Amino acid sequence: MTEPYDVTETRAAYDTVSKAYAEIVDPSVAETSFDAGVLDTFAAYVRKDGGGLVGDIGCGPGRITAYLAARGLDVFGVDLSTGMIAQAMERHPALRFEVGDMARLPLRDGELAGVLAWYSMIHTPPSRRPEVIAELARVTRRGGRFVTAFQVGDEHVRHIGAYGHDVTFDGYRLPVEATSALLEEAGFEVTATVVRSAENWERTPQAYLVARRR
Ligand SMILES: C[S@@+](CC[C@H](N)C(=O)[O-])C[C@H]1O[C@@H](n2cnc3c(N)ncnc32)[C@H](O)[C@@H]1O
Repeated sequence: MTEPYDVTETRAAYDTVSKAYAEIVDPSVAETSFDAGVLDTFAAYVRKDGGGLVGDIGCGPGRITAYLAARGLDVFGVDLSTGMIAQAMERHPALRFEVGDMARLPLRDGELAGVLAWYSMIHTPPSRRPEVIAELARVTRRGGRFVTAFQVGDEHVRHIGAYGHDVTFDGYRLPVEATSALLEEAGFEVTATVVRSAENWERTPQAYLVARRR
C-alpha cells in the first residue's frame, strides 16, 4: 500500500526536528501541570485494573513514556519517526521504543491494557481519524484504558518552520464532541472529558479524553 503523503511528510519533519524537540519540550511533566493530573489518573486506573502492557503511541522522545514508567506502568513507546525513537532510546535507555505507524500497529488484537495518544493524533487528517482510532481500539483489551490529549478546534494548521528548522507539515486541532463520538463508535466508552484554557505559549484550549474499551 502506498503511504499517504502527509505521513511521509510528518515523519520527515519529526526526523529533522527530533533533537531540538527533545531539548525544547519539557523533558519532565511538571508536578503542578494539568497533564500530570490526567496522567496520574490514567496510571492509577491501569494499576487498579491489575496492570499490563501500556503503549505510548506517537511517543516522540519518550517524556510521557518515562513519566508513566516512573509511576509503575509497564509502558513502551511507538513513533513514526526514527529520529524521535533514537532520541527516546538515548534519553531513556531502560525503556522499550520502536518505530511504527499508529494506523498499522505491530500489535495483536487486545494486547494492551492501556493506550495513550498524547498529542499524536494531531497530524492525522480528519478523513483518516476513524481508521486510526479503530486501530487504537483494536489493540486495547476489553476494559483497557485509553487517554488522548490534543489542541481543541476544527482547523488545519500548516506548520512552516518548527523548533528552529526549515520543515513543513500539517497539524490539526480536534473538535471535542466529534472526537469523543469517534471513540464511542470504535468501541470505547468515554468516561471523562476535560477541556482547559490555554496556558503559557498555547494558542487554543487543550482537551483530554479518558476512555475505557468496552
Ligand atoms: C507533538 S509530538 C508529541 C510527542 C509525545 N507524545 C509528547 O507528548 O512529547 C507528535 C508525535 O507523533 C508522532 N506521530 C505522528 N503521526 C504518527 C503516526 N501516524 N504514527 C505514529 N506516530 C506518529 C510524531 O512522529 C511525533 O513524534
